[in-house]
Amino acid sequence: MTVAPTPHHDDGDDWMVATATTATGWWRTGQRWRSRTRDPDPQSRRDPNRRRDAALGRALQLPVPWSPVSVQELPSSSAEWIERDAAVVWHGFTQMSAYPDNSPVIAASAEGHYIIDVDGRRYLDAISSLWVTTLGHRVPELDAALRSQIDRVAHTTMLGNGNTVVIELAEALAPRLPVDSPHLLFASDGAVAVEQALKIAFQHWVNLGVTGRSTYLGFGGAYHGDTIGSMSLGDDGFGVDLYDPLRFSVLRAPGFDSPDAIEVACTMIDQHASRLAAVVVEPLVQGAAGMQMLAPAAFAPLGEACRRNDVLLICDEVAVGFGRTGTLFASEQCGLRPDLMALGKGITGGYLPMSATAVTRAVFDSFLGDDLGPKTLYHGHSYGGNALAAAVALEHLSLIDRDDVLSNVSSRADQFRSLLAERVAPLDAVLDVRQTGLMIGIELASAPGERWGRRVSAACVARGVLIRPLGDVVVVVPHLSSTADEVELIVSVLVEAITEVTTAPARTVDDPDAQPVGHPVDDPADDPDGNPSDDEPALREPDED
Ligand SMILES: Cc1ncc(COP(=O)(O)O)c(C=O)c1O
Repeated sequence: MTVAPTPHHDDGDDWMVATATTATGWWRTGQRWRSRTRDPDPQSRRDPNRRRDAALGRALQLPVPWSPVSVQELPSSSAEWIERDAAVVWHGFTQMSAYPDNSPVIAASAEGHYIIDVDGRRYLDAISSLWVTTLGHRVPELDAALRSQIDRVAHTTMLGNGNTVVIELAEALAPRLPVDSPHLLFASDGAVAVEQALKIAFQHWVNLGVTGRSTYLGFGGAYHGDTIGSMSLGDDGFGVDLYDPLRFSVLRAPGFDSPDAIEVACTMIDQHASRLAAVVVEPLVQGAAGMQMLAPAAFAPLGEACRRNDVLLICDEVAVGFGRTGTLFASEQCGLRPDLMALGKGITGGYLPMSATAVTRAVFDSFLGDDLGPKTLYHGHSYGGNALAAAVALEHLSLIDRDDVLSNVSSRADQFRSLLAERVAPLDAVLDVRQTGLMIGIELASAPGERWGRRVSAACVARGVLIRPLGDVVVVVPHLSSTADEVELIVSVLVEAITEVTTAPARTVDDPDAQPVGHPVDDPADDPDGNPSDDEPALREPDED
């Protein structure tokens, strides 16, 4: 079984866990966090931003005063919020028994590309809140669009009725989509956009009276979401196979880490066309597979194989859509014109939950028939086509054009490419650097048990840059509106964090100094139940007085 971490999933680590972990080593004792040296200045100990600012200053070589802070109470506001949180909230992809001990960041506000926690600590969000935020937070125009829509109407059902702003959004999106004469079915999450696509593809053939087309072809390493259908389409790994009794089987081509993935998929399509409802692909980048990528030119044969065999092509652009790869949609670069397309994440600039399934006129027409007849798509969600989300999505689309955001993506991507080649790729610990647009994966050569991915990410978070790994791939998905200074900062922090973690002396379980704070959660890759193991040594202050 291959292990395919999901974007929600960093192999059991949480990017939040590292907030109290420092370069010099912080140690958990109940509610207290300590380092090994004492700062004589009590004032400095009370400033929660001090250490992070110093680290940022060093990363940027700014003249920020730095001296190691030693004893710091976990600020009461954090502790209180974490306690309240753990009492009533269930966090996805998180082992809740360990959650409160992992120093989660409790966001209180945000500003531009920074998230600010309840204690006023600021974090440059280099993962765009799991790849959703595009232009940052509190964008004046998006805020205004939302406020103005509230004065009209927040939500009306799309089942059997319409809403002006949703119509306007569909009209604005339609000419931009690489889909022929599209119609859009709106929902709220990416997984549902995929789920809808699967159902539509299946029923399309039923409506046409074609029998036997009930199978899908997916790729190795694929991730399409967490609903039963999207999870069936996705590859095994990270607990997905637990649901095998519920998952339907699909034909599986190799993942993008195999250079012949598309070629093999095309052969499979030729062989199994009569039972295929659709082929589903993440064009250009398999994000959750650890940023596995193929060149744009590789994809054209896939489109041709689908056309030649009259098999529907579904492009899942939930992650790659809305500019992440340098074009508004990745399919454009690949020369693909899918029959169905799943959209989500960046559609509202990361403001509100919205997703959509776009289908060609031909697919749409196959559902036309008698009122309430069997050709009707009996599917729809209560909040599908939410007016507030639509208003923000509409404004977001116009900002992408007005501000020439795709040019910025191209410039920042070029800057990343050269900085990563110059400063990150040569590091001994780095196996591979993969990049398409502003989707970046840095694969580390971690030995079993070393968990460099999580530790490097933790070291980045400690320096005020939010990073979340996928196994030993450090993932960077910055905002589309990132500045040159921010790119410089992210790369500097990465270099510092990778160097610090991968050149540290080897750690052993017996050595109390070997237990860094912030990583008490076991790795589900090692422990499939995802629970901390019984023999995990308790974290303790080695020189507690
Ligand atoms: C390619 C792809 N499809 C679908 C999804 C699921 O989207 P959501 O988390 O909004 O359900 C994701 C999430 O990361 C994704 O990367």
